[in-house]
Amino acid sequence: MKKIHIAIVGATGLVGQTFLKVLEEYDFQIASIKLFASPNSLGKSLQFKGQSYNIETVQPGCFRGIDYVLMSAGKKVSTDVAPQAVKEGAIVIDNSSAFRMHEEVPLVVPEVNLNDANQKRLIANPNCSTIQSVLPLKALQDAFGLESIDYHTYQAVSGSGIKGLNDLHRKESVPQFYPYDIQKTVIPHIDSFLSSGYTYEEQKMIDETKKILHDPQLRITATCVRVPVEFGHAVSMKVKLKQEASLETIQHTLKSFKSIIVVDDPSQLKYPVSTLAVGNDFVYVGRIRKDLHDPFSVLMFVVADNIRKGAASNAIQIMKGLMHHDDTH
Ligand SMILES: NC(=O)c1ccc[n+]([C@@H]2O[C@H](COP(=O)([O-])OP(=O)(O)OC[C@H]3O[C@@H](n4cnc5c(N)ncnc54)[C@H](OP(=O)(O)O)[C@@H]3O)[C@@H](O)[C@H]2O)c1
Repeated sequence: MKKIHIAIVGATGLVGQTFLKVLEEYDFQIASIKLFASPNSLGKSLQFKGQSYNIETVQPGCFRGIDYVLMSAGKKVSTDVAPQAVKEGAIVIDNSSAFRMHEEVPLVVPEVNLNDANQKRLIANPNCSTIQSVLPLKALQDAFGLESIDYHTYQAVSGSGIKGLNDLHRKESVPQFYPYDIQKTVIPHIDSFLSSGYTYEEQKMIDETKKILHDPQLRITATCVRVPVEFGHAVSMKVKLKQEASLETIQHTLKSFKSIIVVDDPSQLKYPVSTLAVGNDFVYVGRIRKDLHDPFSVLMFVVADNIRKGAASNAIQIMKGLMHHDDTH
């Protein structure tokens, strides 16, 4: 693989710092790396492979000569900066929701739909809970077809970035970020409310799942809940299949899919807990069981590291996939 020039926008954030960690772990040949954050971080530096790099702010021309920009600084920054980076010649992989539903922008989870990214210069990374959900869903879709999905999430505070973690660990008695005390309660509210009664987070899961699985007709509902956990999102889902399948066939199908680890032995208390996923890029699936009233429906519990597979690692795996494609074509 050729040596690449990389830039990270939002480098000081939770996802940004994880980009650096994952880039160190994966075997990339990196010619240069530039780190960008807000003006508040000017004067700070971050370590990468034993070297110190100063934080810069985005300026006209700053992406010239860059091959890939990994962007994770929120929707507003992405809306402003991603077009500039593309214009200056880079391929952008964006973590925000700014472009995810744009028709011409692919929304990619490499194990599911890497081909959608071919020849594109702006690629969107899906919402964290959606990423971990579409791996088992794709396995089931290919084998049995999908009729409908009912999602219920249990999302860690790190999904809100550094502000979420700070609110869980705060010393003050009054919440500083969430509307209720995340030290004491779960909160059935993530992102803003829409007139439908759903939250934007729930609507993102619904819309993004259909786009990634190339099935606009899929019937999906979602309830997204914040829980007092630092890292690792969990999604409980009920999936109605188009064809009836035995539990054994379903388990085998899930076990055979890339990046999925099935942990499902309740007699030994083996099931996916979020701590199992923290610090790695696998998606853990367990509690697999048939619906008691509908032989076409299966339930399962899915966990993954929201900052890694749900954000930084997925984006880096997209980049790796694109580089591999360039090397082999
Ligand atoms: N956390 C997750 O699980 C997760 C998962 C998927 C996607 N995402 C998405 O990733 C993005 C960042 O999330 P996060 O959790 O890393 O948030 P975070 O910890 O709050 O970090 C935000 C980053 O954006 C930077 N930033 C703010 N304004 C900027 C500007 N004008 N120019 C350049 N950089 C700027 C911040 O720099 P300063 O330090 O200088 O303020 C910081 O590096 C969001 O779009 C989020 O929706 C997060």
